[in-house]
Formats: sequence, structure tokens, C-alpha cells
Amino acid sequence: MKAQTNKKDTQPKSVFKMTNWGSEKGPMSSPGNPNSDAERWHIDDNDYLILRDTVLELASIDLLCYRTQQMERRLTTYLERSSYTDWRGYAHSLYARPEELQRFIEFMTINVSSFYRDADKWDSMVDAVLPDVLERTAPRGVQAWSIGCSIGAEPYTLAMLLKELAPERRHRIYAGDIDQSVLDRARAAGPYTANDLREMPSKFLEKYMTPQNGNQHHVCGEIRNFVTFERFDLLQNKPERLYDLVVCRNLVIYFPPAIKERVFRGLMQALRPGGILFIGSTETITNYRQYGFEYCAPSFYRRAL
Ligand SMILES: C[S@@+](CC[C@H](N)C(=O)[O-])C[C@H]1O[C@@H](n2cnc3c(N)ncnc32)[C@H](O)[C@@H]1O
Repeated sequence: MKAQTNKKDTQPKSVFKMTNWGSEKGPMSSPGNPNSDAERWHIDDNDYLILRDTVLELASIDLLCYRTQQMERRLTTYLERSSYTDWRGYAHSLYARPEELQRFIEFMTINVSSFYRDADKWDSMVDAVLPDVLERTAPRGVQAWSIGCSIGAEPYTLAMLLKELAPERRHRIYAGDIDQSVLDRARAAGPYTANDLREMPSKFLEKYMTPQNGNQHHVCGEIRNFVTFERFDLLQNKPERLYDLVVCRNLVIYFPPAIKERVFRGLMQALRPGGILFIGSTETITNYRQYGFEYCAPSFYRRAL
């Protein structure tokens, strides 16, 4: 796949700073009506820091890195639906309620995923990206990283495509996520529902998925063997190896701009020169050259040689 010039490259770099977050007002807050439910439950700076310290201590997840208007709205809705009436009480309760801590982590990490998600992008992967990656890496197997892999649908999709295109090579896909509960399901390779598989081409379904209990499926052993899962926090851990292909989709959208910059730089450093980064359909890296990328096609960037 040839690198192209992206005309959007001229877009100015964001000046959003971490210290500005406190001045943001989420749409749920209603200044004209301070006694409304939304205002009562709205999380203020002090409460956010208390909750952040608690979750950092108990789960090693830093909520400050997720503090966007969208996340504040979600947190407000979460507390509204719980039996708690204030964030401090809620944060304090987490010390005694590990099951609630896990529920909270699942809520804020947003695990939505599916096989062959955004099929047109995986088609581009097959037609343009993987042939190029396979040529560059021949004769060895491709080493790929799927970060924010959720239930495993993404690394298993990639494993199936590599198996189809170069079955004779020993490919390796490392897959990581911050949320232990999704990793457990990914390691078990299922069960996956019809909804998880809705975009998957039927030839892959028949070839690589084993049906169980009617509508549920597991990934077959042959494909499972390509993938290794490990807990990994993209914001705190450093990858231990270099990859030919990094898949990081629908994850950076949850980070504020300053954190995104750090993440894109880290993803670039995880790639071998010439390696490809695959991001989500709604994501773009406008100032990609600043991170050492070339633009290839929508959702695909290459680490400059
Ligand atoms: C919306 S899902 C996207 C899943 C998959 N990449 C896809 O596009 O179908 C985002 C995933 O990123 C994970 N995640 C959130 N923060 C993370 C972090 N700091 N490090 C690693 N994974 C993270 C979440 O647990 C969740 O499984």
C-alpha cells in the first residue's frame, strides 16, 4: 500500500490542557437550575480526584486520563442509576465492594466490539495492507499487537485473515486490554453471540468458528493458537517488543487530546519502521507527521522509514 498525502494535515494542533478540565461544563449540568438532578449528581473536580485516587489505588487505572465531557456525562448517568447520592460516598464504598469496583471498571472501559467490525476496513486490510505487510516480513511470520482488544474479536479476526493469506508462516498476535473481565472471555475464545459475529463473512464463520448451544460460537483451536492475551494498560505500560502491525481501534476516542498525543507517539514507537497502524473508523490522526507517521488510507498509517 502506497503512502498518500493527507490534505487534512494542516489542521492546528489542539491546545486543550489537562488543567482546563475543571472549567468544562458537561451538557448534563444545568447552570440555570442548580437543584436539578443532573446538577446534584454532576461530578465536580474534588469528587473526581477522590474517585480517581480510589480507582488508581484499587485497580491501577487512572481516571484522569479519561476525563472528557463524554466520560463525565457517563459517570453522572451511572451515579443517577445507582443507590448512591454522592460521589465521595460511592468512592469510599468501593474499598469494601470489589464486585462494584469491577462493575464500575466494565462501565467506564466500554467494551463494545465484534468480529470483522467495520467490514469495509477489514476488506482494505485484506486487499491492500496485509499483502504489503506480508511482502515486507517474508519469509517470517507477522508480529501484530491488538491493544484495547476487548473480548478478542479483533485479534481473532486478524488471525483468520493471516491464516487465509499466508497459512505456512508462524504469525503471532499479542492482544492486550486494561479490563481483566473481557480478557477472560477472550482467552476462553467465546462464547460469542450472533450479534458479535454479525459482520463476519460466512466463509470464516463456517471455517473457523465452532457452534455451541444453538446461537453461540467459540473460535477454533487453530486460530486461538495464534493469539496471546495479557493485561496491558496503554497509558501506564510500555510494549516489550516491536510489531509489524498495530491495531488500536475505538480506544483513543475516550482520551482527551493531550493523552491522545502521548498514545499516538507510543503506538508509533511500538512499530518497526514501515509498520502499519490500524485505527477506528471514526478516528483520525490529523497531525500524523508530528508522530512520525505517513498516511496510507482512511484508518491506516505507516511508521515512516
Ligand atoms: C470500545 S472497546 C474497542 C474494542 C476493539 N478494539 C474494537 O474496536 O472492536 C475499547 C477497549 O479498550 C479498553 N481500554 C480502555 N482503556 C484502556 C487502556 N488504558 N489500555 C488498554 N485498554 C484499554 C477497554 O477495556 C475496551 O475493551
